[in-house]
Amino acid sequence: MPHTYSIVGLGKLGASMAAAIASRGFNVIGVDVNAHAVDAVNAGRAPVQETGLDDLIAANRERLRATTSHREAILDSDVTFVIVPTPSDESGGFSLQYAAWAFGEIGDALAQKAGYHVVVLTSTVLPGSTRYGLLPILEQRSGKTCGADFGLCYSPEFIALGSVIRDFLHPDFTLVGEFDERSGRALEAAYAAIMPKQPPCRRMTLENAELTKIAVNTFVTTKVAYANMLADLCERIPGGDVDVVSDALGFDARIGRKYLTGALGFGGPCFPRDNVALGYLARVLGTRADLAETTDRTNRALAGTVLERLRLSIPHGATVAVLGLAYKPFSHVIEESQGIALAKTLSRHGARVVAHDPLAAALASQELKDHGLVLDSLKDCLRQASVIVIATPDPAYQALEAQDIARPGVTVTVVDCWRLLARKLSGRPGINYVPVGRSTDDVRNAARLSALWQS
Ligand SMILES: NC(=O)c1ccc[n+]([C@@H]2O[C@H](COP(=O)([O-])OP(=O)(O)OC[C@H]3O[C@@H](n4cnc5c(N)ncnc54)[C@H](O)[C@@H]3O)[C@@H](O)[C@H]2O)c1
Repeated sequence: MPHTYSIVGLGKLGASMAAAIASRGFNVIGVDVNAHAVDAVNAGRAPVQETGLDDLIAANRERLRATTSHREAILDSDVTFVIVPTPSDESGGFSLQYAAWAFGEIGDALAQKAGYHVVVLTSTVLPGSTRYGLLPILEQRSGKTCGADFGLCYSPEFIALGSVIRDFLHPDFTLVGEFDERSGRALEAAYAAIMPKQPPCRRMTLENAELTKIAVNTFVTTKVAYANMLADLCERIPGGDVDVVSDALGFDARIGRKYLTGALGFGGPCFPRDNVALGYLARVLGTRADLAETTDRTNRALAGTVLERLRLSIPHGATVAVLGLAYKPFSHVIEESQGIALAKTLSRHGARVVAHDPLAAALASQELKDHGLVLDSLKDCLRQASVIVIATPDPAYQALEAQDIARPGVTVTVVDCWRLLARKLSGRPGINYVPVGRSTDDVRNAARLSALWQS
């Protein structure tokens, strides 16, 4: 069983994996082209923001070091995980540019290594990338043969930002795509030693594993999009309430309650791009992935359609407060954030936008530019607005009370995408409470529904 691991790419996923593996008693050598990331790890600090990472790195300094030299790390370790960016390219697929460069460096190092070594690609890629895109680079640069001289796996992790360390150490299962039996067996044994509860391991071909990773993400996002569709329908039914419907649906073991809360759509660095990539893959393989493409299309349109379907008339020049600009609570990441999309949509329709986020204010401010003024104080934000849109289920917004929102002489409209404040705000004087996913006009909805049966 391997005793020393190397991790190429000390970013949001890689740095957390390095610390997590070290915390299980193994030696870990991190590699990054960014000297700041390397210096941070060697100084016992987290190179990126992630829950618990600073403490875990500090607590495991004796087993964790970092270098900018791929050669040094490969020569001194038995298994290498490669976790470098695979950004979307213009076609919708994932670029292998960074991975190819890293595999070239690893190939050069393997040329100088005597023993067997397993290389594991962890970055998200499309089927075929590992075998046809990256393996030839390893063989060419090392002058060696995969299978005989070194092993190769594709093995993604199923993690969410904000809980990367916990998710990595306690997954539902591990997924191992293997070039051959020996590579897969070595990685399965490594995971069994690293992960405290020894989760089930699914071993398969490289291509099936590459597809499985994308399939997990696209399935989950389709579930989110489905719940958002139910929310839209519930708004049009007298007494409609998406939480009532979703809670019941969740009891069906075939469905489950997770990711079924109709609200705003999904965002972040991973989910949105995977549906696009699956659509691209299907097209180049001569078929279609209509479900994935529809999920992507409806998700991207959601910020606009939520406001439209709530029949919200926002007077030109009115001040609207958007609360929640990161793609989810407890995160500073604003990539593909629904809150940012909402703020931009509102600004384009003539609203004056003020906004707030507990962690993402600085990045959001750069992104919004003239589309919104990001304020540090939630109170200042609320004081100015005649319309408030709650875009993320952040505890800071859940803790708001009617008196934080109501203002004398003004009716404040609160669009609550996550229904956080229903109990506190429904029916309160001076507040027009508009929950996404619930009927707000039972008379109109009943009239429309009854008209269906009067022929
Ligand atoms: N962040 C997530 O939630 C998540 C979840 C699952 C999968 N992934 C996948 O993991 C991969 C990495 O994601 P991330 O969020 O950690 O990226 P990131 O941008 O946070 O970090 C990538 C790191 O790799 C380094 N790097 C780039 N090229 C390198 C090279 N040749 N050698 C050494 N280091 C190099 C960068 O300097 C950076 O520190 C992506 O493919 C992503 O899709 C990410």
